Amino acid sequence: MKERRAAITALGTYVPERLLTNADLEKLVDTSDEWIRTRTGIRQRHVVEPGTPTSELAARAAGEALRRRGIGAEELDLVIVATVTPDMIFPATACLVQDKIGAKRAWGFDVSAACSAFPYALTMGAQFVESGAHRKVLVIGADVMSSIVDYQDRATCVLFGDGAGAVLLEPAADGNGILDFLHEVDGSGACYLNMPAGGSLHPATRETVEKRMHFVKQQGQHVFKYAVRKFADVSEHILHKNGFVGADVDLFVAHQANIRIIEAAQHRMGLPDEKVVKNIDEYGNTTAATIPLAMATALDQKRLKAGDLVLLAAVGAGFTVGSVLLRWSGVAWD
Ligand SMILES: CC(C)(COP(=O)(O)OP(=O)(O)OC[C@H]1O[C@@H](n2cnc3c(N)ncnc32)[C@H](O)[C@@H]1OP(=O)(O)O)[C@@H](O)C(=O)NCCC(=O)NCCS
Repeated sequence: MKERRAAITALGTYVPERLLTNADLEKLVDTSDEWIRTRTGIRQRHVVEPGTPTSELAARAAGEALRRRGIGAEELDLVIVATVTPDMIFPATACLVQDKIGAKRAWGFDVSAACSAFPYALTMGAQFVESGAHRKVLVIGADVMSSIVDYQDRATCVLFGDGAGAVLLEPAADGNGILDFLHEVDGSGACYLNMPAGGSLHPATRETVEKRMHFVKQQGQHVFKYAVRKFADVSEHILHKNGFVGADVDLFVAHQANIRIIEAAQHRMGLPDEKVVKNIDEYGNTTAATIPLAMATALDQKRLKAGDLVLLAAVGAGFTVGSVLLRWSGVAWD
């Protein structure tokens, strides 16, 4: 057992008010509410007013977490932002958030791991607490997917939404906290889900813009098959590694990419509906924000209590695979 565990001691979330419903998308591309709901489980997504950056959503979620914990931003040691839609390629969005919230003593950095970025960032943050280097680490998952989604491509534009969630990590005071993590990457999957241009491989040119290369490109079938297999594999492995089986899990908080992916993993682990959080119908896939948003849904529904064994799992572009096993510590929730 670890000498010192990191625990989630506060949670804050933010989604923009503006809604993009399936009916709205029917006006933009050749799709239908029925197709979207049955193939993905999504009913609506929240999207920003154009021009609202990721740092804005991240700062609002951070503010909520700090308010609930009753501390000021100047107490933070470190700010980690998980995102695939940074305000700019550099500086890191963590720097912009640090400034916006007034975390004067904190350093920070971004984590790029697409839909697995929240478990990755949580793992990184936990190391600083477990080592004793830091006492207050803010981990934020935030994405403005509407800024990189092609609203002419029906295969991708129906999937994504915008949002942010922030958790505070501190030394566990009650024996609960983060137990373990298990992460993988498989870079041979990079070709199946990416944003081709805007980096050093294809810097922005008139051609990259005309070819719509600054948007998310996905071969959905490949990603779907990989995600179904990996969600269940990584979940089983991390449970087994820690001496647990599916029946021991109190709550499965999965990345919300497609209801069918979540349910495939749920069935392989033999979990009943009451042990699985599903809110994709309301938010779509908000990339780095889905897991904290799902934690908030569980708290709203009073499905999380101190001591619960919670399994987080995500699969994303890269390919990346992330899972974290924890005992919930209990947080103030209003
Ligand atoms: C994207 C996804 C929902 C597509 O569902 P699918 O069942 O795999 O569908 P396919 O891609 O095989 O497409 C089936 C048909 O529906 C069509 N289609 C795709 N998007 C559509 C839409 N929005 N509306 C209507 N039809 C659509 C396709 O053109 C295809 O038509 P065809 O058979 O005439 O060629 C699914 O593959 C998926 O969820 N993939 C993983 C997404 C993901 O997790 N991404 C983020 C990383 S975590």
